[in-house]
Amino acid sequence: MIRAASYLVVGGQFGDEGKGKIVDLVVQEGGVDVVVRYNGGANAGHTIVLDQGKYPLHLLPSGSLHPEVMNLITAGVVVDPLHLVKEIQNLQGRGFHCENLRISDRAHLVMPWHKSIDAHLGGRIGTTARGIGPCYEDRASRRGLRMGDLVDEAGLVDKDHFARRVKETVEDKNAILTKVYGLGPLDPEEILHDYFAAAELLKGQVTDTADLLEQYTREGKCVLFEGAQGALLDVDWGTYPYVTSSSVSLPGCLLGSGVFVVPELRMGVVKAYATRVGEGPFPTELGEYGAVKERDTFNPELGAPRLTEAERSAALDGDDYCMGRWLRLVGAEFGTTTGRPRRCGWLDLVAVRQAVRMSGLNALVLTKLDILDGIPKLKLAVAYERGGKQTRAFPARSHHLNEYTPVYEELPGWETLDGAGSFEELPGEAQHYIRRIEEYTGVPVRVLSVGSHRSQSLFLPDRAVTARH
Ligand code: IMP
Repeated sequence: MIRAASYLVVGGQFGDEGKGKIVDLVVQEGGVDVVVRYNGGANAGHTIVLDQGKYPLHLLPSGSLHPEVMNLITAGVVVDPLHLVKEIQNLQGRGFHCENLRISDRAHLVMPWHKSIDAHLGGRIGTTARGIGPCYEDRASRRGLRMGDLVDEAGLVDKDHFARRVKETVEDKNAILTKVYGLGPLDPEEILHDYFAAAELLKGQVTDTADLLEQYTREGKCVLFEGAQGALLDVDWGTYPYVTSSSVSLPGCLLGSGVFVVPELRMGVVKAYATRVGEGPFPTELGEYGAVKERDTFNPELGAPRLTEAERSAALDGDDYCMGRWLRLVGAEFGTTTGRPRRCGWLDLVAVRQAVRMSGLNALVLTKLDILDGIPKLKLAVAYERGGKQTRAFPARSHHLNEYTPVYEELPGWETLDGAGSFEELPGEAQHYIRRIEEYTGVPVRVLSVGSHRSQSLFLPDRAVTARH
């Protein structure tokens, strides 16, 4: 069990580490009153699994399935109101009321032109095409529209002001869409119709979330800050330019929520192996990305393919593509937001250390450890090598990263984690794998997730660990 006055939950790799389940678990076990989203937008995909079924959330904070918990979408988040309404209506259709949501009046609005531009230009980075980058660009260049342009202080839809802003902006954007990118123009009346309809549904929930959060912290409420994406996708500290457009770690949390709170328990969620969606360097990747894109597509109607016996033996004989495919198929590594096959590889501790440093992590959560069941030899990247020189710092120059070869430590695997109800009941090899991660990073593993359901989680006591990388 874990208990703290406040929590931060961030991704320790390239996103998709299983943060949704962990936030949901901590909300349930850790006495959380408020969940705060502070970065990103509908590019995030947090899946929560309850007895009744699976709940993929994108913009909604992961406390949304708990009626007694307040959920804040703060100023650092870029909000697509049409998407948000759909997500709320979807949850309402499944019996959740979503009245416990507040949206910052300073949050920037993702507009249709952002999505068009992202769909047109985002391919070289492999974005989610949700308009995230172009929206943050407009924020930085002071051309953006905010929630407060749509809904005023009294909670009324400010039609005149918003219509004026949309009409003047769409004129510029249409010139760019048609003349620069050769795309079709957008119709401002259609945009206004859609955004006014969404605003009518959301208006009662738009407020100054920083003021609210300050009040909650003064009252001693337990707050959980939920980061979207992962440390290596951070706009400054990730594998630039193959990154998202926000600050995903602790600094982004302060910036986005607008209140100075340093969360007491700073948890980095780390998958027991590594995955990445979209383009960009991935030093510990197993197999060629081109082959993955071509061969590992996922047809939701047919379900994911299964690993064949021949592929299993090839993986055990050292075929990297087949080992990557093993992790992808057994781990169901297909994007929540886009359905794309995720690239898979060995756990990269050089990358995790970057995440530890950025957020001052003092707890790790290791997810999907069970996916490694039955793999006789596991590898952990502990350094990179280039031109005969080793480094343990994550390199800045992404275009060189493919020239770095990971330096691996090989550890024995285990047969199965089935039936283990505590750390001590895990196979010795699994205990050793976990202890090596702690030792390298200097951060104790506090939660182990061995399945998608809330109940498939083991808690470990806090312990001092000296870093030895
Ligand atoms: P964007 O955030 O849509 O601009 O995409 C930029 C990069 O971040 C792409 O490589 C995406 O695949 C990746 N990305 C964005 N959000 C997530 C996420 O929640 N999980 C994993 N990758 C993400």
